[in-house]
Amino acid sequence: MARIILLFVIIFLVSLSEVEPITFKISNRCRNTIWPGFLSGATSPPLPTTGFRLSRGKSKTVTIPPSWSGRLWARTLCSQDPASGSFACLTADCGSGKVECSGSGAKPPATLAEFTLNGTGGLDFYDVSLVDGYNLPMLILPKKIVVGGCGATGCLVDLNAACPTDLKLLTRGSRGGGVACRSACEAFSDPRYCCSDAYATPDTCQPSVYSLFFKHACPRAYSYAYDDKTSTYTCSTGADYAIIFCPPPYTSEKLLGSRKDGATLPLVNKSMIHLQ
Ligand SMILES: *[C@@H]1O[C@H](CO)[C@@H](O)[C@H](O)[C@H]1NC(C)=O
Ligand SMILES: *[C@@H]1O[C@H](CO)[C@@H](O)[C@H](O)[C@H]1NC(C)=O
Repeated sequence: MARIILLFVIIFLVSLSEVEPITFKISNRCRNTIWPGFLSGATSPPLPTTGFRLSRGKSKTVTIPPSWSGRLWARTLCSQDPASGSFACLTADCGSGKVECSGSGAKPPATLAEFTLNGTGGLDFYDVSLVDGYNLPMLILPKKIVVGGCGATGCLVDLNAACPTDLKLLTRGSRGGGVACRSACEAFSDPRYCCSDAYATPDTCQPSVYSLFFKHACPRAYSYAYDDKTSTYTCSTGADYAIIFCPPPYTSEKLLGSRKDGATLPLVNKSMIHLQ
């Protein structure tokens, strides 16, 4: 009898120490359907989904295991080949041939949301990266409101039309409009832009006219590999996150204006209004 009671006490204690999963609420405010994709880090627990379809105006909440790290993005202009049944996207394709990405990452250019949940010091680290180029505007919004932390980050401006000509990803039928904007590293494979070889340190890899195009439009996002530390944001572990694709830039900025998140850079550069 005593043993059974002891067993129940142990089960009770184990259940108390279990950490609650958190959630990502993914929303599509874009004009068209998008297909979000997820890639978990090598040592990270798997997610319940690695990719799904999200119609215009819809949201989906995904349960995220504790201490997860990885990235997410959204694919655009996807279709299924009627003959082979293979699924493919014109931007940010993960190459799985299916809606689920199943361990494959995004083919650049793609706007990336990067997360390390419950990292150093019990903090979540997150950023929006344009290091691999850009395909859609994106906002990461921690649901926790903490003074001096849990800042909103993202790239709220539509950069596909404004993309410098030599970085523009054009597709058949896109009539010069562009469906994504490549990084200078991808477009020119130059170590200067890729921060590789002789340029593989923060001191030797400098911003370029191309990375500054991204930085000026989206001051809080990573614009090249050694962009300064103002591009990584932190929140105490346990927060839920909203990830919004194509958020309305000025309403978002207004809504977020009251959050005292301590971020030094603006979310939207007002002098870049002409890009809209
Ligand atoms: C964070 O990670 C530590 C181990 O590194 C673990 O003990 C703790 O329960 C985790 N907390 C949450 C909220 O996931
Ligand atoms: C805003 O854009 C202008 C023009 O491109 C640029 O000179 C300025 O540095 C940008 N501001 C920020 C905070 O990035």
